[in-house]
Order: sequence, then structure tokens, then C-alpha cells
Amino acid sequence: MAPAIIEKHRPKVSPEFDYTTKSNYTDVCVNNTDLNIEILFKEKKIVGRVTYDLTPLKSLNEIILDSSYIQINEIKVNGTSSGFSFAERVEPFGTPVSVTTSIPQDSPLSVAIDFETTDESTAIQWLKTDPTTKDASDYVFTQLEPIHARALFPCFDTPAVKSTVTATIKSKLPVVFSGLPLASKDEGVFKFEQKIPIPSYLFAIASGNIMSTPAGPRSTIYAEPDRLQDSYNEFSEDLEKFIQAAEKIVTPYIWTTYDILINPSSFPYGGMENPNITFVTPTLISYDKSQVDVIAHELAHSWSGNNVTNANWQHFWLNEGWTVYLERRIVGAMHGEKMRQFHFIMGWNDLIGSVDSLPKIEYSKLVQDLKHGAIDPDDVFSSVPYEKGSNFIYHLETQLGGLEEFDPFIKFYFTKFEKKSIDTYQFVDSLYEFYSQDAEKVAVLDAIDWELWLYTAGLPPKAEFDTTLVDEVECLVDAWISKTCEFTSVSQFVEYFNKEFKSVYDGLSSPQKIFFIDELLEKRPTPTFWKDNSVASDALIELYIDLNESRNTEIIFRWFKIKLSSGKTQYYQALSDWLGTVGRMKYVRPSYKLLNTVDHDLAIATFEKYKDRYHPIAANMVQKDLGLWRTFHCW
Ligand code: BES
Ligand code: ZN
Repeated sequence: MAPAIIEKHRPKVSPEFDYTTKSNYTDVCVNNTDLNIEILFKEKKIVGRVTYDLTPLKSLNEIILDSSYIQINEIKVNGTSSGFSFAERVEPFGTPVSVTTSIPQDSPLSVAIDFETTDESTAIQWLKTDPTTKDASDYVFTQLEPIHARALFPCFDTPAVKSTVTATIKSKLPVVFSGLPLASKDEGVFKFEQKIPIPSYLFAIASGNIMSTPAGPRSTIYAEPDRLQDSYNEFSEDLEKFIQAAEKIVTPYIWTTYDILINPSSFPYGGMENPNITFVTPTLISYDKSQVDVIAHELAHSWSGNNVTNANWQHFWLNEGWTVYLERRIVGAMHGEKMRQFHFIMGWNDLIGSVDSLPKIEYSKLVQDLKHGAIDPDDVFSSVPYEKGSNFIYHLETQLGGLEEFDPFIKFYFTKFEKKSIDTYQFVDSLYEFYSQDAEKVAVLDAIDWELWLYTAGLPPKAEFDTTLVDEVECLVDAWISKTCEFTSVSQFVEYFNKEFKSVYDGLSSPQKIFFIDELLEKRPTPTFWKDNSVASDALIELYIDLNESRNTEIIFRWFKIKLSSGKTQYYQALSDWLGTVGRMKYVRPSYKLLNTVDHDLAIATFEKYKDRYHPIAANMVQKDLGLWRTFHCW
């Protein structure tokens, strides 16, 4: 049985209720969702019908669905037009729509809603790729996690509800969808089905001048023509290897195919695990495969998130913590245990950064409390569920006796909760269930500091990771910091580091170089160290030409941090220009914050210049970060 501390926190209903949906999702079972829609590029609208096949779990007088910036034209209940009304809009949850109907328990219920999206949708981005050329092409993509599905179509917008999906999508351009494509006789009509029940946040649509190339026995890469070859070169080699590695660690892959779509650069995330078709940012194309771990991550969601799903965003760490843990297991299977440990150490730096910069310290708890106040899960988002979560799973792995003892639990957990939506309590119960016959293991579980890991803000205890791959980096970083006090000219630095450390530096892998830059910042004795020691930072920039010229955005972004925190005004404009080329929030948000601290006017001017290029979610977040947030939501 779970320990008293878990019982103290356990809510009365399990899995815990989702406070971010205003739908009456607990009253119904959603058997199937049918989407029949058309993408209208000229009007920038998605128009059509969503039909729910429902079973009422009790006798009902109304069905309430989430919606946000959606226009509803008609609702039919079992074929007959029905009255409906919108509640008042509440941020960030939208305007729930109530359908009046009187339905006895268990009687079959079909609710068909004719709707259209509006300009204010936070779920959709409409793009014209490079309007200055004659190749200008329309492109649209959706991004629904965590609570933006309601801005695409009226729905039970909670990960607690899963349904199978059938979709018919009309578009003048090729379409991809989060399901398997079906043959379609009609030109411009694309059909899909998702036989595995999925929650609303995993629906995904993209349409544009999208081409494809086979990239493995179960994989296809989709991209616009000018990126297809580069994408193939970057990702194709690893896709099937990753799938097989994951299958060995967890359970067989259930989704049949694993494809990826390279979206335009305004895609706000590194990747999004849409079933059958992971969406990624083109910034993953680094020309050295150094960001394929993002693909390992999105693939791992095929188990943690898409198969076993967090029942609500309070338990988001179950999705992301498990996924980072599995991502690093895949990395370990490909590149060895030392590399897995190295990734944990890298992640720890992200965690420190997140805990320090969160708007509220409570957001650094693993289990979130979204019950009180209208908290927007987008505002709570940080590295905490990823890093604290994966460190927690790793802590369990080591405490329970290492991989040999823990691996059978992984298979047990992902089998037990297959296709379900669960909360942290069910996860803890499953640990006790699995190890119940082994008194020693139960004692280990009893000794876990659940309160500290699950319910306490701040950094968790740090594990002792293997430091082989960081030691080489650390000695180089330490040399830079100590020589900074000694040398007075750039040439002294260049000469010394060329003589003593050239072979060390040249031997570093891309992830180690990324870590090198992180540590130059992390280990500086004072926040103004590189600014106060301008000669040393000039030497860094002069010596490491490969970092200056890198095409890897993980390096570009960090190198800007070095340049700006060294007070080098000549690079401010370069960062401003770069912000016109990337849309991934991981870079855009901290870059604006950084630019804002050194040159407020330039930060504001840059944002004004490029805001239309960003995804509505990214633009909103930057607006909040820069203090520009009023009542304005998106463009
Ligand atoms: N599911 C997330 C993206 C996400 C999270 C979108 C929350 C909206 C709300 C995705 O799997 C993810 O974690 N992406 C990371 C990749 C990384 C951790 C390897 C990203 O975008 O940086
Ligand atoms: Zn993820």
C-alpha cells in the first residue's frame, strides 16, 4: 500500500479531476470523433463538422463542450437541430458551449456540430512562405497541447477523454493528420483514421506544399521541398534504430508508422508528439545530427503520453518526465551509459535555470495544483516536469536496484495503463503493486521521500552521475576562468589555449561543446564576469571560430548568451536579426529576455518587427515576458 504521505495528498476521485476543461466530460464516454472539415487558406479558416459518438454515463440535460474563439453555426443531436448557448468567456479556458438535450443514460447519442474557426484561434498558424518570391506558398499547422484543441474545434478538451478518430479533410494542398492515411477517390480530399483512442491535444493537422520521402521501414519524412533532402540526411538514419531501441526497453510500437513533419521555422516547439506524425522545428537540422535526441524524445511519447497519458495537466510530469527518462534510455542504447549520464548532467543545468526563473516557485513542484484560480498551463510550462520528473524516475531506478530490477517495472507500467489516462497516484500504486512480493523493495519504496520529490518546490537531490564526459569540459572551463585573471591580451589566451587545450577542444562532441558554453556561464564567479573581463571574452569569440559559425541552433543561441552577457554591443543587432529567423520558444523567449536586459528599445522594436511571424502562443508568451501584455491575445 502507498505510504501515508501519498494518502494525505490523494484526491477523492481517481484519476484526479481536470480543472482546465469546462466540459462535462465525466458524464459521457466518447466512442468516436469524426472530423469533416475544409481548410480555407484565403479566408484563413477551418470550416466543417465534428460529430461525436457518445454514450451518456447518466441521464443528461446538457452536453457542455470547450470552445475558444470558435463560431458555431448549428448543432444536431441524433439528427435533430438543437438549441445551444455559450457561457461567458473566462481566460484561459474560453467559452464553453452548452447543448440542451434530454438523454437517458446509456442511450446512443450523436452530437454533430457545424463550426468555423476565427482569426483569433490560438491553435492555428497560417503562413505564406516567403511572400517576396513567386514560390510563395500557403501553409497551415495546428499545435494543440495543452489546451488549444478548443480553439480548433468544440471538444472535451481534456487528456482524460480519449476517442478513436475518423477525419475527412479538404484542402487545395497536401494534408497530414495525426492518424493513418486512407485511400481517397476525390482530389483535394484527404482521409485518415486513428484507431487507437487519443485525447484532443493530440489531434494535429498541417497542410501546405508538403512533399515526402521514405525514411525507414515504418517511417516517412514530410517537409516542404527545399528542406526535404536536408531533413532526410539529418534524421533518416536514426528513425528505425530509435524505434527498435525503444521497443526493447518498453513494449512493441503500437501505432504502425512513425513519420515526422518538418514544419516552417515559426513552429513554436522543438517537437510535438502528434500520433503517427511528430511535428518538428526545422531548427533541429544542425547538419551534424546533434539534435536527433529531440526525435528520440518525441518517439518516446508514443509510450509515455500518447499511450499512457496524464489525466490532466497537474500530472504533466508523467508525460514529460517519463519521456525524458525513455529518451535518455534510447540515447544510452545507441551511445552507451556514459552518454546517458552526460545527458542527465546537461539537463540538470536546464533545471537550475528553470527553477531560478519561474514566475512562481510553486511551479517547480512535480505535481501541480491547478485547482485554484484560472491558471494557464502554458504559464506553468518549464523544464521542471522534464528534468525533475526524469531525475525522479532515475532515482527510483537506482534505489530499486538498477536497470535489471527496474526494467520489468517499465514494461509492467506501460502494459497495465495501456491506452489509459492516469495520475501520479496510480503511478505510485503501480510501483507498490509490482514490487509487492518483495519486502526489500517495498522497504525501498517506503523510504522514498515522496513529499520532497512530488510536492516540494525547488531543486530535488542531485544524483551522482558519471562525469567522464563532463570532466574534459570542466577542465577547459576551469582553465578559462583561472587564466582570465592572469592574461591581459587576446593573443596570450589564443596562444595558451592553442598550445595546451587544442586537442581537448577538438576532441569534444557537439553536445560537449554545448555543455562547454553552458558551463562558461554556469561557473563564472559573478554574473558580470565575462563583461568585466572583456579581453577574455574577446579571446573566446576569436578562438572558437566553429562556435561563431555554427549552424546548430543550440550553439548559436548559447553563443549569443556569451556575447551579450559579455556586454558586446556589436552583437545585439545580430541577435535581433536571428530572432527574425527562428520561432522555437526555447530560443525566442530567453533571447528576448536577454535582449531586453541589455537594450530594452531594441528588444521591443525587434518584437514589433517580427511578431507576425511568430506562432500566436509564442507571441503571447514573449509579450508577457516583455511586460507588454494587456488584454491583447494574438494576431
Ligand atoms: N509535448 C512537448 C511539447 C509541448 C509541451 C507542447 C507542452 C505544448 C505544451 C514535446 O514533447 C516536447 O517536450 N518538446 C521539447 C523537446 C525536448 C524536451 C527534447 C521541445 O519542444 O523543446
Ligand atoms: Zn515531450
